[in-house]
Amino acid sequence: MKIAVVGTGYVGLVAGTCFAESGNEVTCVDVDERKVRALQEGRVPIYEPGLEELLHRNSAAHRLHFTTDLGKAVSSAQVVFIAVGTPEGESGDADLQYVLAAAEGIGKAMKQYTVVVDKSTVPVGTADKVRETISKVTSVEFDVVSNPEFLKEGAALEDFLKPDRVVIGTSSERARRIMGELYAPFVRTENPILFMDARSAELTKYAANAMLATRISFMNDVAALCEKVGADVEFVRKGLGSDKRIGYPFLHPGCGYGGSCFPKDVKALVATAREFGLELDLLRAVERTNARQKRSLLAKALRHYGDVADRTFAVWGLAFKPKTDDMREAPAVELIEGLLGKGARVQVHDPVAAKVAERYFGNRVLYAPSNYAAAEGADGLFLVTEWNEFRRPDFKKLKSLMKEHVIFDGRNIFDPVRVKEEGFAYYGIGRS
Ligand code: UDX
Repeated sequence: MKIAVVGTGYVGLVAGTCFAESGNEVTCVDVDERKVRALQEGRVPIYEPGLEELLHRNSAAHRLHFTTDLGKAVSSAQVVFIAVGTPEGESGDADLQYVLAAAEGIGKAMKQYTVVVDKSTVPVGTADKVRETISKVTSVEFDVVSNPEFLKEGAALEDFLKPDRVVIGTSSERARRIMGELYAPFVRTENPILFMDARSAELTKYAANAMLATRISFMNDVAALCEKVGADVEFVRKGLGSDKRIGYPFLHPGCGYGGSCFPKDVKALVATAREFGLELDLLRAVERTNARQKRSLLAKALRHYGDVADRTFAVWGLAFKPKTDDMREAPAVELIEGLLGKGARVQVHDPVAAKVAERYFGNRVLYAPSNYAAAEGADGLFLVTEWNEFRRPDFKKLKSLMKEHVIFDGRNIFDPVRVKEEGFAYYGIGRS
């Protein structure tokens, strides 16, 4: 099949590359000339394990192309994906200007029947708006499909190539058939394609992210209570997760969820509901708990030291989670800004996100070449992102490097007993 993907952000790039991998001829389009040139030369602008290799392989096989020429890419494509950004709008809703601009461009360039697919996370009703926008500029036949993407950063290829499910929202039988064929290589009986109407598909994506965010905030509330009553949240988490009706995933307490999806999508769902006269109290509480959680490490430090001015702190991990350099809504940002605001010095290390971090902190923090270098002379160490390389530190070495021996473990990756035996004060989330 001939496919065009508009937008080479996270979702567009991964989808385009994976569709090429399954034998389609894919052209990815972006308005950013520098980005397109880099991609043509095989340079991937984001950090995602395995993506660069897969992109090279499919580019070399001439199945994957990059261009700024929307018209050329769309005119010969049977399926066109819209995968442009949907930033947060003024009232917390998703800003659709890029989606609708892409829709108009696609409408103007279409030459034969085309399936136009919303891949970006878009509010309920967007498929209708995309249809209206295209109808105004063309008389060519087309269908609009909502096909939300559920991939996780850091595991994007695996999630795309072996999805739990593929959601296709459309009332057109013709579009269903084409989408079914396109996704056939990725689905099996146990990970099916779910066909539904466009509105249900659009809502599914928001509801899934809101549900996962709710689990995390719920667990973070339980963790806060554990701290009050002297329980250990890690025991409680296992006790809960082992119930098959509950399950283990997304029950890890921590210093808050971040990223480009959970914070934005929870807010957007609340905004959508409000537009329809419904107040989603549960989700507003989910947001409040997460905001508190993002402040929790600094609060623990202030309780421990009284005042952090003129003290030096090591921060291990900047990305919002491991295996990505994405720092959008990352808990590390709030922590570091808090420490700097209170007059502390901050020494950071992240295996891949240091370059991105420069955009946030400039020269206000010290970028250490290793996690141990970050700990040199520090009064305390904050573990914020649970990269594997941080899991088993040499505590003796750490002790010799640090001035004071205090660890704030924002992801509960260290064993409190062991850490204390090594002579550190230990603060976890929901346990001590
Ligand atoms: C998420 C959804 O999982 C994905 O389906 C959707 O398409 C996009 O949003 P992503 O943002 O890449 O994916 O990251 P995810 O792995 O879901 O983690 C989100 C945040 O939750 C991270 O900050 C992570 O640290 C946090 N988290 C996750 C927890 O605090 N506890 C957990 O148990 C799991």
